[in-house]
Amino acid sequence: MKFFADTAEIDEIAELNALGMVDGVTTNPSLIMKSGRDIIEVTREIAAMIDGPVSAEVVATDADTMLTEGRKLAAIAPNIAIKVPLTWDGLKACKRLTGEGHMVNVTLCFSANQALLAAKAGATFISPFIGRLDDINIDGMELIADIRTIYDNYGLETQILAASIRSANHMKEAALIGADVATAPPSVIRKMADHVLTDKGLEGFLKDWEKTGQTIS
Ligand code: E4P
Repeated sequence: MKFFADTAEIDEIAELNALGMVDGVTTNPSLIMKSGRDIIEVTREIAAMIDGPVSAEVVATDADTMLTEGRKLAAIAPNIAIKVPLTWDGLKACKRLTGEGHMVNVTLCFSANQALLAAKAGATFISPFIGRLDDINIDGMELIADIRTIYDNYGLETQILAASIRSANHMKEAALIGADVATAPPSVIRKMADHVLTDKGLEGFLKDWEKTGQTIS
């Protein structure tokens, strides 16, 4: 499973990237707002740093303006994936933009039917939002599993990009189901390294080591 960093914070992306933990980046208007940066500038910086798709989202709601915005975002760098919302207009924009050779990430997906439509419209990525479904007591992971089954049934090549990931457990579940990509905040990716027995074991080893009076140097 590929890891995308769900953030527009340059320092956090750079830290993960140095460890080889980032296969791409996703941003959205809220994350751009949080970064306090200009969308074009920060997207250009991220795209130059990352060897993989960097999603930048349109904010228009009609297909024609989405096309104009999408082309402007795609001109930033060759590895930009244009993010469009899963609306009828978004699907129209998706079809046109992928037809022009751009990568398109169809976002705000909350149902298997929406994901089926996005694949028919040629989406490069479909972004089902797990956490936001969990928030309203619908099992987000079940949606990832349903989309996996449907895409596999028909050999649809759109990549499933599990989004709105809130925990390290979400990462594991998405990987078990076979999501192609998971996009997560850097804090969640770091959390995947945590285990209480690792901490406990290390504490024990270090205590015993101290008793030996030795040093390694
Ligand atoms: C995906 O591309 C979105 O940027 C993101 O995963 C949304 O997550 P949230 O529900 O935590 O805002």
